[in-house]
Amino acid sequence: MACCHTEIPEAGDTAFSVDTSAITYGPACLGEAGDIAASLGIGRIALITDATLVSTEHVARVVASLADADVDVALYDEARVEPTDESFKAAAKFAADANVDGFISVGGGSVIDTSKAANLYSTHPADFLAYVNAPIGRGKNPPGPIKPHIACPTTSGTGAECTGIAVFDFLEMRAKTGIVTKAIRPTKALIDPTCTETLPANVVASSAFDVLSHALESYTARPYTHRVAAGRPSLRPSSQGANPWSDLGCREALKLLGHFVVRAVHDASDTEARHQLMWASTLAGIAFGNAGCHAPHGMSYSVSGLVNDFRPTGYPQVDPIVPHGMSVIVNSPSVFRHTAECNPERHLESAGWLGADVIGADPRDAGSVLADRLVELMRATGLPNGLTGVGYTEADIPALTTGSFPQKRLLDNAPCEITESGLAELYRGALSYW
Ligand SMILES: [Fe+2]
Repeated sequence: MACCHTEIPEAGDTAFSVDTSAITYGPACLGEAGDIAASLGIGRIALITDATLVSTEHVARVVASLADADVDVALYDEARVEPTDESFKAAAKFAADANVDGFISVGGGSVIDTSKAANLYSTHPADFLAYVNAPIGRGKNPPGPIKPHIACPTTSGTGAECTGIAVFDFLEMRAKTGIVTKAIRPTKALIDPTCTETLPANVVASSAFDVLSHALESYTARPYTHRVAAGRPSLRPSSQGANPWSDLGCREALKLLGHFVVRAVHDASDTEARHQLMWASTLAGIAFGNAGCHAPHGMSYSVSGLVNDFRPTGYPQVDPIVPHGMSVIVNSPSVFRHTAECNPERHLESAGWLGADVIGADPRDAGSVLADRLVELMRATGLPNGLTGVGYTEADIPALTTGSFPQKRLLDNAPCEITESGLAELYRGALSYW
């Protein structure tokens, strides 16, 4: 495996950028939605949520706050869990017809991403693939800014409120892909940790491991100095690689996860643990939005896109899904076991923050120390046992590999070069862990 950490390209970048949504964090801050919308000049707003959340107190609190500020609401409650190109298009059509001048999303990453897409396509209509990542789409930047978007996450997971990424299933290819542009980063994130107090254990676990992998992947990503600089500074990608800013958030998020994840999953009344996971999610979201994830996320696209018959408890039972966090973490121990050789120090540090005993550990064992700690935490929180735990067998490895290898934005951000045969080996190593 070629190692990117020691090979600085001649045209490597020499600076990094920090872009993030403005954030308000704290219990009951959803009640600030109306004042914020009014201050952004929004008179009529599209409220994007889903069929489950629409009847919750979170949406009720936001609607009441918007009413208090005399902001008209156009409600859309059909955002799909694990959105598709079709569900993005439906939300965009709603937004175009509703004639709004801003957006507010209340939900998990799927809802927030749906709102980003609805905002983008209703503000700058285009052929759907125009803004989608290459090679599936054409990866164009929108011609100008889009409307203000206030994102209100209700799970402690995706960090979608802080990123310029919207992920969806492209149905005709059975592949997950995304739209990545700083233009769709929400204008404001309202992060109310009390939203996590009623979440089912399985949803908390899946979301938490998404956070964990955001932090681990960003911390171990290829350093920004090892990426060839963009032709113009304004084109510097958000997946710019590990940098001193993202390192700060990753470090703190990993410590919080190591300390609180098991408590938060098993005890819904442990508000300290659940709130701390929301804070970890915020920190990791800011970090990966400015560094980029790598192989576990790249591999997750086909793990969720090719799902056969997996229906985890705590999620809608209509269609089979591998929730995003599960589709990521089933790959993570296998990936970090291998990438550690490219940067053992960072892998070992991460294992220690997650609670592994690393005193006296040999850097040559960094990969197994980190992978073993991840597996320990997965088992302690009821996560699936690798790819077999979400319904795959060894026979699926070629399809999983073919489906994910085009995710160059993510795979190229790994600390080691990942070839197609190397990717297949990573999937093989992820089949089962115990
Ligand atoms: Fe993620």
